[in-house]
Amino acid sequence: MNLTELNKVALAMVAPGKGILAADESTGTIKKRFDAIKVESTEDSRRDYREMLFRAKEAMSQYISGVILYDETIWQNAKDGTPLVKLIEQAGSIPGIKVDEGTQALPQCPGELVTAGLDKLAERLKKYHERGARFAKWRAVIDIGHGIPTMTAIHVNAHALARYAALCQAAQIVPIVEPEVLMDGDNDIDRCYEVTQRVLNKVFQELRVQRVALEGMVLKPNMAISGKKCPKQAPVEEVAEKTVRLLKACVPAAVPGIAFLSGGQSDEQATAHLDAMNRIGHLPWGLTFSYGRALQAAPQKAWSGKSENVAAGQRAFSHRARMNGLAAKGEWTSELEKKAA
Ligand code: 13P
Repeated sequence: MNLTELNKVALAMVAPGKGILAADESTGTIKKRFDAIKVESTEDSRRDYREMLFRAKEAMSQYISGVILYDETIWQNAKDGTPLVKLIEQAGSIPGIKVDEGTQALPQCPGELVTAGLDKLAERLKKYHERGARFAKWRAVIDIGHGIPTMTAIHVNAHALARYAALCQAAQIVPIVEPEVLMDGDNDIDRCYEVTQRVLNKVFQELRVQRVALEGMVLKPNMAISGKKCPKQAPVEEVAEKTVRLLKACVPAAVPGIAFLSGGQSDEQATAHLDAMNRIGHLPWGLTFSYGRALQAAPQKAWSGKSENVAAGQRAFSHRARMNGLAAKGEWTSELEKKAA
């Protein structure tokens, strides 16, 4: 493992004013997104959509440090035959790959999940590296509910995340370590804080046990936030203050950067939260975005599967990328959103 090189890539992923585009929806998930805009999900329509994003020059070269791809996409070529990976590289962005194989029910733990995909992972990583991937992603899912999460779920998911991270570094790939505590429940922000703290502490314990070099990874956490069904929604400042406090307590300064998932927040909410955190400042790591839905909802709608809408889709994507790029520096204002509307 060349840690200097891993560290360089990790720092580039969280470079000031830039963040990550999570375009790694599995075939099932992208079908759901396409259903919502009444577009048939085929290999070609998925390719056309992603090609549109990766060819959005302004967004890709100025605000998107890296793109997380799905297995299908990393092997796909653009309409003119150029590999999609090359489009990303030509824009000055770094190609990455989701390597987990989704979640499975966790035995003896009703309602809880464990992420699969460790079998043959070393071989897969080697192939992805040859194709150009310089970072990877693995998502663990922790739900909050009555009597959950259990210690069992936290433990097995943290263990798998660390196994994955160690294998990535051995393959000269920067692991994005993503323990996602879901925001779907009726819990308040303090319960989310407490569960996320337990999860992050366990994850970093496992990373240490398995000798993962913290300098060569990026953390992708949820924010400390109210559950969607909670009647009392914490305001932006409270989310920002509690998330920063939580991360400072749990994430060692050796980690080069933290890139949040959006997890079901609205586009503007996800931007406002990131901005408020960066305004607090004095952070030991880069703090940016690795958004899926919060970056793509607008371009998906503007595109709606029609080739004549490609420019409009790219404009919508560039706008969201720019807003989040500003938020990553604490320089976003809601007036900028109004001006664009
Ligand atoms: P969202 O931002 O839509 O949560 O997706 C990010 C992601 O990559 C989840 O694994």
